[in-house]
Order: sequence, then structure tokens, then C-alpha cells
Amino acid sequence: MRQSSLVVVANRLPLDDNAAPDGACEWRRSPGGLTSALHAILEQTPATWVGWAGGTGRAPILPDLGSLQIRPVALSEAELRGYYEGFANSTLWPLYHDAVEPPVFHRDWWETYQSVNHRFAQATAEVAEPGAAVWVQDYHLSLVPQYLRDLRPDLLIGFFLHVPFPPPELFMQLPRRVELLRGMLGADLVGFQRPQAAHNVAQLAAKLLAAQATDDQITLPDARVVRTGAFPVSIDVAEMQSLARRPAVVSRARQLRHDLGEPRRVLLSVDRLDYTKGIEHRLTAYSELLRDGRIKVRDTVVVQVAVPSRERVDSYRSLRDRIEGEVGRINGEYGRVGEAAIHYLNQPFDRAELAALYRTADVMVVTPLRDGMNLVAKEFVAAREDVAGALVLSEFAGAADELQHAFLVNPHDVDGLKETLLCAMRADPADLRARMGAMREHLRGHDIIAWARAYLTALDDSGRLADRLPASGAAGPKSRGVAAKARAVASRSRSVARRRPPA
Ligand code: ADP
Ligand code: F6P
Repeated sequence: MRQSSLVVVANRLPLDDNAAPDGACEWRRSPGGLTSALHAILEQTPATWVGWAGGTGRAPILPDLGSLQIRPVALSEAELRGYYEGFANSTLWPLYHDAVEPPVFHRDWWETYQSVNHRFAQATAEVAEPGAAVWVQDYHLSLVPQYLRDLRPDLLIGFFLHVPFPPPELFMQLPRRVELLRGMLGADLVGFQRPQAAHNVAQLAAKLLAAQATDDQITLPDARVVRTGAFPVSIDVAEMQSLARRPAVVSRARQLRHDLGEPRRVLLSVDRLDYTKGIEHRLTAYSELLRDGRIKVRDTVVVQVAVPSRERVDSYRSLRDRIEGEVGRINGEYGRVGEAAIHYLNQPFDRAELAALYRTADVMVVTPLRDGMNLVAKEFVAAREDVAGALVLSEFAGAADELQHAFLVNPHDVDGLKETLLCAMRADPADLRARMGAMREHLRGHDIIAWARAYLTALDDSGRLADRLPASGAAGPKSRGVAAKARAVASRSRSVARRRPPA
């Protein structure tokens, strides 16, 4: 495998090993915000991506994606449980999301997390050319920056956290807090979605590592300096805009509205089935609005897309049971023959179908209890070529810092949520147009390429990294070509089936 001057390291690769209907292996675009965001930029940039291909056992041999070389990292079944389902998604994920579910601490998960992080660091060290830049992504790989520095002190190392970083009083619960913080601060630059995260890390570095820390620079006791800052991630705006204006997507949106019974209003939510997304609070709000007669099933239709996620983790399994029970109750109580109160879709969709759904919505309801960014909110805005539609957005999503013209809401306050939904449903079209216009204007200047450019320029201000990126707005069309080459359609069906517990 050739060495690269830019290496990206993320838990997931942009490809996932799905099985075709005939049982043969085929490669599809991986689910999730992180991979779609990075894939859009990197397939046009000479680089190597180190990551997990989604299965267990031996690492597969994968083709290059355009100019992007793929270096898979193998995980055993035990490692998948201890590292991905355990420490990453049952300890760090809930802890970093306000502990909305209690974090679980197991000492053997920590052992596995360390050894898997070490394997990622070794794989990276092998493919990085002398003096290369390495960009490590997200909470799964917090220890990789320090491991990599030990293996290859010549490298320039960046780390970006896609999820929130918790307040010190929550982080202090973590039994391995010192090691985790040291691992992350092995980087030269640590990037976050929001400025508050950098502030939290500065406080912890001072307290736990005796560092001199401000919100943009941490000087460790050995005098090494780590820079920190906020770099809010974005989407491939050009791709979503061009999809949404395709005649086939426009007519599919019309068809969807017809199939929904030509209601006065369509309320849409699109989430991974995750307890951080606030789906249960949202269902309570809808149900009470129906109960109190403030909305009627025949003129207000709710569509909830909830794609299964991390299905072998207990908290995700019980969440799915609770949500499906509640959707069944609401439909049983308020629906009629041919008129469901909630259209609940537990399936993956391709990008064109998502674009059509976004175009169909009168009110897009994005109400996570805590979210690093929430790319769905940005995708909705990008898809609204017609400059119409309302966005109801949680204050606790990173996207709220930028999309200030949304109808902002505290999703924990069910009464406030009900009033905000009604307000968005009844808003004057001129007001909606002004809000949507302002949000679209913001996104135009802040797409995924602008994000990567800002981060890579901060990592290396000589411009040698940022200069390789395509111009803003240029990610879309080429991205589709390479995705097609890899038979990459947005689908998690097989990988979800694989993660499902045996019956
Ligand atoms: P997270 O990273 O927590 O999953 P984001 O909202 O940031 O949340 O990103 C979710 C990504 O997954 C978006 O790009 C969205 O389009 C995609 N997605 C969500 N639901 C589906 C689905 N049913 N089918 C295909 N893609 C989906
Ligand atoms: O955005 C947070 C994140 O954990 C990403 O790292 C990941 O790609 C996405 O959510 C989907 O989660 P998973 O990779 O566990 O399916």
C-alpha cells in the first residue's frame, strides 16, 4: 500500500460491506453524518482513509475511491462488542450527550478500546509518509492522537470531535478520564463543533493534567502546545441542492404528498433511532396536540423516519420497543382507516428519496435532546430550493448556533414544543420565506468544503493541505460519479441486519 501525505482516520470507512440480494458482497455508502460529510471532500483529494469496513473477521481488500486510498482495519466480534458497542457507544456516547441515558462503565471495555485504538494508530503510521498530516475523527478514536505521536513524532496530527464534549462535572465521572484526555491532547489541533466544548476541555486540562489552558490553547507540563477551537461541520450543499432540483425529485415530492392524502400540512422528522434524538418527547407533543384537538389527523400528517442504529446495544433495543409501542398507541387511538396519525418509516432511503421527503415537508421537526451538529437540519435547508417550509430546531443541536432563523425550541419542555410546533405550522409564508432565505444564505458560505478548509488551514497554515480541496460548491457532481462506481447508495439495510442480535 502506498504512503500518503494526508491520512484520515475514522471508525467507519465510507464503504460498508452489504450483501447483494443474491448473497454476493457489494460495497455501499456507509450510513451516518461523519462519513457522508468527509466522503464528499476526500474522494477528490489524494489521501488515504483508515477505518473499519463494518463487519468482523479479516479486513477486506477494498478498491480506491477516486483518488482516495482505503486502508481497512479488522475487528473481531469481541472487539466490536468491547470497543464499538461497549466503550464508544455505551460509555462515551451517553456521557457526551448529557447522560440522557446512564453511561455504563466496564473495565474490560476500556482494555479493548485501548487495543483497538492502538491498532488504528499502527495502521495509520504504516500509510503516512514522512511529515504527513493525519486527521483523526471522533470519540471512537480518542487515544489515537497520543499513540500516533509515540509511534511517529514526525507527523502533524489533528483531531476532530463530531459529538459534543461534556461539561467537566460529567466528564469527571469517567473512570479513565486522565488517560482519555491525554490521548486526545496528543494532537496538535483539537477541533470541536461548538466553542463551549473547547472551554470544557481547557478547564479539564488545567484540573487533571496541570496544564496552562485557555479556550484556544493548552500548554502541557512538558511544554508541548495543543491548539483548540470550534469548526462547525456542514454538508455537501451543492449535492443536496442539485438533487432537490431534479425533475424526478420534484415529481416524487408531489407524489408523496398525494400518497399522504393531500393534507394541509406535513410534519417530517428524520433521525437515526437514537435516544439522543428526542423522538419520545416529540411523540408526546404530537399525541397531546391530537388529544386536545389542536391538530386533526386529516389535515396534519406526521412522517417519522427512524432508521435503526446500534441495534445490539440494550438501550437502543429498548428505545425501539418504546417508540414502536407509542407510535402504535397513537395510531390506534387517533388514526382511521386510510388515515394514519403517524407514518413511521424504519428504513434507509437513498439521497434522492430523502431530498423528495425534505421537499414535501411543511415543517421539519429536528428536536434532539443533545446533538453535536445535526446534519439533517442543514440538509432540509439545502433541499428547499423553493425557499419555503419551516424548521423547528432544538437549542441543544450544534446547528442551532448557525441556523438562528429556525424556530428554536427546548425539546425537554413538552408544552413549549407544542406551542412552537403550532407557531411554525401557522406562520405567515412571507416570514417563512425570510427565515429560509437567511438560513440558505448562511449555508451557501458554510458548506463541507469550507469546513475542511478552515480546519486544515488551522492545522497547517502554509496552505499545503487546504490547497488540495476542491472549491466550495464543487463537491456534489463528482461525488455522485465515484459513489456510483463503488455502487454506493445510501443504505444501511445489510449492515443493520448484521448488527441485529440473533433471534
Ligand atoms: P448522526 O450523525 O447522529 O447520525 P446527523 O443528523 O448529523 O446525525 O446525520 C445523519 C445522516 O444520516 C444524514 O446525512 C442523513 O441524511 C442520514 N440519514 C438519516 N436517516 C436516514 C435514512 N433513513 N436513510 C438514509 N440516510 C439517512
Ligand atoms: O455523528 C456521530 C456518529 O457517531 C458518527 O461518528 C457516526 O458515523 C454516526 O454517528 C453514525 O453512527 P454509527 O457509526 O455508530 O452507525
